[in-house]
Amino acid sequence: MRVLVLNGPNLGRLGRRQPEIYGTTTHAELAALCVGWGEPLGLAVDVRQTNHEGVLLDWLNEAADEATPVVLNAAAWTHYSYALLDACAQLSAPLVEVHISDPTQRPEVFRHTSVVTAHAAEVVAGHGIDGYRLALESLARLTRP
Ligand code: DQA
Repeated sequence: MRVLVLNGPNLGRLGRRQPEIYGTTTHAELAALCVGWGEPLGLAVDVRQTNHEGVLLDWLNEAADEATPVVLNAAAWTHYSYALLDACAQLSAPLVEVHISDPTQRPEVFRHTSVVTAHAAEVVAGHGIDGYRLALESLARLTRP
């Protein structure tokens, strides 16, 4: 089964961006890991990253049209984008929300809100890059016939 792993703003700089919070794995390495984790689960994983909100909305609309399961780390948009909320609300296949850090445990109060969670089958947060493996395992379980 084909699944999308969608990463939002600033995640393209993984490995260099605040490594004390987000670790040293680059986005290219993360993408390769996700493809590898998907294989034994029977998932063909397509990993994408954008800094442009409309692009993410287009990808979510594509997932809605094609009933494609999604792993989503919407990064900062998670906390305030109602357009993102609406895009997630229309999905019919399962959506798993993932965060590298655990936003609910961070000091900035704005991170404690997620517009995605209400439409997510599961949330994986605070497990670092390995959270994407856990999220893919969740998707595999949730989409099993
Ligand atoms: C993040 C957490 C968000 O609060 C932050 O804006 C990010 C990354 C995470 O993966 O921990 O950019 O989604």
